[in-house]
Amino acid sequence: MRVLLTGHRGYLGSVMTPSLLAAGHDVVGLDSGLFAGCVLGPDDADVPSIHADIRDVKPSHLTGFDAVIHLAALSNDPLGSLAPEITYDINHHASVRLARLAKDAGVQRFLYASTCSVYGSAGEELVTESAPLRPLTPYAESKVRVEEDVTAIADSGFSPVFLRNATAFGFSPCLRADIVLNNLVGVAMLTGTVRVLSDGTPWRPLVHARDIAAAFCAALVAPVDAIHCRAYNVGTEDNNVTVAQIAAAAATAVPNSTVAITGETGPDPRSYRVDFSAIRAAFEGYAPKWTVVDGAVELYENYVRWGLTEELFTTRFTRLAHLRTLQTAGLLDASLRFQRVGAEP
Ligand SMILES: NC(=O)c1ccc[n+]([C@@H]2O[C@H](COP(=O)([O-])OP(=O)(O)OC[C@H]3O[C@@H](n4cnc5c(N)ncnc54)[C@H](O)[C@@H]3O)[C@@H](O)[C@H]2O)c1
Repeated sequence: MRVLLTGHRGYLGSVMTPSLLAAGHDVVGLDSGLFAGCVLGPDDADVPSIHADIRDVKPSHLTGFDAVIHLAALSNDPLGSLAPEITYDINHHASVRLARLAKDAGVQRFLYASTCSVYGSAGEELVTESAPLRPLTPYAESKVRVEEDVTAIADSGFSPVFLRNATAFGFSPCLRADIVLNNLVGVAMLTGTVRVLSDGTPWRPLVHARDIAAAFCAALVAPVDAIHCRAYNVGTEDNNVTVAQIAAAAATAVPNSTVAITGETGPDPRSYRVDFSAIRAAFEGYAPKWTVVDGAVELYENYVRWGLTEELFTTRFTRLAHLRTLQTAGLLDASLRFQRVGAEP
């Protein structure tokens, strides 16, 4: 299958590209390169690519593809809350426009990277895909709007599917240190103490980046009936874990580190546990392989192997900090566009 993969140079894209190639797909990337150079260790996944901002995608960029996998976005809550209008421009408006262009170009499948955070606070019950959506941040709200607007343009020739990923973990050459397990393993290694600012009780659903890639690979080849306008939670109940359990996994993976739960930030409303039975039933053979404990060990081994330092951890591999660095250097403007072609590092 010929696949256009937006956001291919990001954290998930750098893991998904080799998975798609290994599955025999013909992959073209599309990315503006916000995190170009933010790489730890070798990044071997070299595919033909379109260097573009998704706000500027042209109809010609979409011709000749069987499927679009749309990952490109401002990818977390702090980024979204910093500049909500830019989050809506990129994550919502540009995504819906991309879907329309894909449909007009005859692309049959549109695989969208949504998030389990669309459920917001959900208490102790496991949330299924039919649970009410209660997004708590502009980032999560932008994902809900894309699901609604892209569903509205689906027809017999254009099948969108919304893959609501749990929070990712695991090593990727385009590392993110601002997602919880990756962050806590790094903190354990660099400081010796995993400090948890909440009381440690909130539930978080986690999933390894390679298990997310496997879900997208499965959705590409699933029968159309199984994907058409469907939403799937991506993850496994085994990785519905509390923040305290995530901290313990990090400290166990990193020799001579300990956990300190301070509780100083008070209650955290983003607590939810997720039901993942629908994706297992729909995509034959789909079963996430990675536990949080194994992921913590993988992260620690790669951090040591590739020489992670505190400076890299807090700047280059933290999305918000890196964008601020680019803006301070005059490379990126307030709307997160590069000031001139080739300005990206
Ligand atoms: N990582 C997670 O825990 C997680 C969980 C759920 C959903 N998701 C979603 O998966 C997708 C990928 O996440 P990630 O962790 O790889 O994020 P990332 O920040 O590492 O990568 C995003 C990529 O998109 C590109 N991008 C951003 N804005 C762009 C624009 N305007 N034009 C072109 N390219 C642009 C960036 O350059 C980057 O390469 C996002 O849509 C995110 O919301 C991620």
